[in-house]
Amino acid sequence: MQRNDNYQVQQHQANTHQQKSQQQQPHHKSDHYINNYSKLNGQNYDSNVRKNEKTNLAKRKPDHKKSSDLDAIKSSLDAGRFRLLNEMLYTQSSKESLDYFKDREVDMKVYHDGFRRQTERWTHQPLQIISEFIKENENRFKNATILDLGCGEGQLEVMLKRKRIGKVIESYDLVSLAPHVKVCDVKNIPRESESVDMVVFCLSLMGTNYMEFVQEANRLLKKDGYLVIAEVTSRFTSLSLFQILIRQMGFKLIESVIL
Ligand SMILES: C[S@@+](CC[C@H](N)C(=O)[O-])C[C@H]1O[C@@H](n2cnc3c(N)ncnc32)[C@H](O)[C@@H]1O
Repeated sequence: MQRNDNYQVQQHQANTHQQKSQQQQPHHKSDHYINNYSKLNGQNYDSNVRKNEKTNLAKRKPDHKKSSDLDAIKSSLDAGRFRLLNEMLYTQSSKESLDYFKDREVDMKVYHDGFRRQTERWTHQPLQIISEFIKENENRFKNATILDLGCGEGQLEVMLKRKRIGKVIESYDLVSLAPHVKVCDVKNIPRESESVDMVVFCLSLMGTNYMEFVQEANRLLKKDGYLVIAEVTSRFTSLSLFQILIRQMGFKLIESVIL
């Protein structure tokens, strides 16, 4: 995702289941200097300061350049934070990520603002493609139970509900940024086995233990249920090995699109 490279949408169907003294010296010296100066020239000092303040105040005008500079600094800091959080999500376990974001909703907002800014530049929107696939197979999924795992801001659920597709739609993520999003590590969904018709992972196979997410999807899916995965191709050291592992779990690859 970070590298703005290709991504792939796959649909699988389930067949089976400082030193103090050093620091203080200049500080002391400078305190001392200011104190002396104030004492000897108290009157002048004060009036000079007031005069300067007035001059400064008179000069002060709305400074649009300064505020746009500040905006630029803020967005550059946010972009840096986004990259760090993204890297963190990919390089630590899902449990560590869940613990990290527990009291850090703001970080997740920064993450999603960054994510949105990045994906806006993409020519294809994976979430849109998944939603269209479901729409094209409306009859099959009209009464389906669909889970969006690692849903972010829960957009897929919103899109599907707008199209009146799906009977039960549930969205899960590490942080709830929308009222309908449930907080959960997707390696462990509080739901019965074989109770779901479709599981979607849209750019959410993050975390060093992401294969556990797929295993969890396998547990949740009914026979003939659908597993839909959209990922950047660089996510996998070997895409064909990933596909073999999925097949070994009992899934049949029904469609694979590289965009
Ligand atoms: C790149 S965003 C994609 C969000 C959404 N699927 C979309 O396509 O707009 C990945 C999301 O997966 C979530 N995520 C990653 N690992 C997770 C886990 N173990 N459990 C729940 N959510 C997870 C992240 O919190 C993040 O919101």
